[in-house]
Amino acid sequence: MKSIMMKINGDQYTLEIQDNWTLLYVLRDVLHLTGTKYGCGTGDCGACKVLINGIAKNSCTLLAKNLENHEITTIEGLSQRDKLHPVQEAFIEAGAIQCGFCTPGMVITAVALLDQNPYPTENEIVVALENNLCRCTGYKKIIDAIRLASKKRDRR
Ligand code: FES
Ligand code: FES
Repeated sequence: MKSIMMKINGDQYTLEIQDNWTLLYVLRDVLHLTGTKYGCGTGDCGACKVLINGIAKNSCTLLAKNLENHEITTIEGLSQRDKLHPVQEAFIEAGAIQCGFCTPGMVITAVALLDQNPYPTENEIVVALENNLCRCTGYKKIIDAIRLASKKRDRR
């Protein structure tokens, strides 16, 4: 076991972890933050994406022991009390959710994209979503949702 410190959703944690524990395992099985999903476990589907120091990354392929003092934001950390993040609201408004399994990873990718590029073109959205798989929606409504979230920034 190794003791590491991490900031997760704004709270500081000291965690006792084993060398082979992934960040996804720590989030879901140690901290019970189950909004982050386990899809493939091999870095291919994006269901496990979280923000690490503001960058969207797959948590299933990262060892927690290498993330000492990193700042992690999961889907649970995006909303504020009962108020959803504007990207979450846009996904609902655009009807971009069917089974919802891919949605946390999609939203995390969208948040990271819009933070870096507030007004992405459709092609830039498609490129950003390359590592996020959805088996339900056909992607169009997800792209619509991210465009909607981008437009909503002007109204805030
Ligand atoms: S579960 Fe991590 S990329 Fe699929
Ligand atoms: S909504 Fe079902 S996998 Fe995307």
